Amino acid sequence: MSPNDHLPDQNLDPQDWDAMRILGHQMVDDLIDYWKGIREEKIWRPIPKEVKTFLNQPIPENGQLPEEVYQEFKQYIFPYNKGNVHPRFFAWIQGTGTPMGTFGDLLASGMNPNTAIGEHSAMYVDRQVVNWCKQLMNFPSEASGILVSGGSMANITALTVARNSFGEEKIRQKGLKAASAQLLIYCSVETHSCIQKAAEIIGIGTDGVRKIGVNERFEFDVELLKAQLEADLQAGFLPFCLVGTAGTVNTGAIDPMEELLEISKEYGLWFHVDGAYGALAKLDPIYAPALKAIEEADSLAFDLHKWLYVPYEVGCTLIRDAKKHRDAFAITPNYLLREERGLAGGLDSINNYGFELSRGFKALKVWMSLKEHGREKYAFMIAQNNRHAAYLAELVTKHPNLELMAPVSMSITCFRMVYPGLGEEDLRELNREILLCLQEEGIASPSSTILNGKFTLRVANVNQRTRKEDMELLVREVLRIGMQKIAQD
Ligand SMILES: Cc1ncc(COP(=O)(O)O)c(C=O)c1O
Repeated sequence: MSPNDHLPDQNLDPQDWDAMRILGHQMVDDLIDYWKGIREEKIWRPIPKEVKTFLNQPIPENGQLPEEVYQEFKQYIFPYNKGNVHPRFFAWIQGTGTPMGTFGDLLASGMNPNTAIGEHSAMYVDRQVVNWCKQLMNFPSEASGILVSGGSMANITALTVARNSFGEEKIRQKGLKAASAQLLIYCSVETHSCIQKAAEIIGIGTDGVRKIGVNERFEFDVELLKAQLEADLQAGFLPFCLVGTAGTVNTGAIDPMEELLEISKEYGLWFHVDGAYGALAKLDPIYAPALKAIEEADSLAFDLHKWLYVPYEVGCTLIRDAKKHRDAFAITPNYLLREERGLAGGLDSINNYGFELSRGFKALKVWMSLKEHGREKYAFMIAQNNRHAAYLAELVTKHPNLELMAPVSMSITCFRMVYPGLGEEDLRELNREILLCLQEEGIASPSSTILNGKFTLRVANVNQRTRKEDMELLVREVLRIGMQKIAQD
């Protein structure tokens, strides 16, 4: 007999449903006020010591009232948000989210279906969203796809299919010993680090990643690529995959997709496109031609939490050859048998197209967002981000104390402050200080990178709340802070 056998049954639902309703409404009200007023708020604030102490407590043994838990959230967590909901958040490449997307997540969480197998509505919404993703990217309708947590997962999913379908397709069964020599993946030095990590995880190893140089616009240098391919073939290696990037993380450069596609055909390589950031710029007529060839890639990874502004997390992998996709992952243990009818009927298990078995209903926030706004509105918003980046570059080039550090591609603008008499080391310190002050004063959040050895402010705009005037304010504040620092030194 267990010690609890004499106690009545319990559950985790609220003791008082009416009180929970009031609390839930309060949460929604607070969120609406937050979004509505976000422009007037500081973008970021340092986390006080007492907050960090509060967030470093032992596990609670006993519960508290829901109202108390929510008050603690409001006091210790809500005010110290990262800031990517703010109109002047430009760090890394991070989307803003939308109210409807957020409520989509709330509803998905409330329904709480495990969206992997079975006959239930979430499976059909998931399939619908994957089909919409194909349509957004102009992929054939027979292609397959899967929603995953983000670009990194989308890339490793695609590279796994590429690896498993190499050669006699025995790698899934026998592991890499089925390959007669070292397999090689080709990408540029500007490729996102998740490609290298993926290569390490799928057994190709760092040594199997050939990072090829770029031109002065930070785009894949195809002549260097061909020379490396020839040398590797001569040496007996097995090139199997070429990765082009549709919008590099540093500068937004678009690799020469048409040429990469041709080379992949010539050398029999799997052509994968990492479009985590930039593939959705296909919706902007200015960038659509440069991205046309990604429609013919063997696989494509892209994020919906970046340029579709959907709340975290959601990315997508598309695979041209659905059979190869399924063959790379499908498995049906006894406890996952499919039926013709009933709850275990319905669509093919999504687990047959990726690694994860348990999956949330992330498709709902995408479905609701796309229905709320439609493709045209997204095309407008993406083009708006691109125009704002170009406008920022214009402001930079007009000012003698600002220097553009890379050609502007899509919505990334890299620049720094310069001043007569300051050497490279001084400029690095000056621009680092500008960056930190912008963040600490709660004005704006660019991030930084190093381009050609020079420290650079980096403004990556996938923000649905940014206005043109935010770019003017950013430039004004960079110069104000910079001049103050120069005057102090
Ligand atoms: C080009 C590129 N690839 C991959 C990723 C990784 O995507 P995620 O952060 O969604 O995993 C990023 C993220 O910024 C990216 O810019």
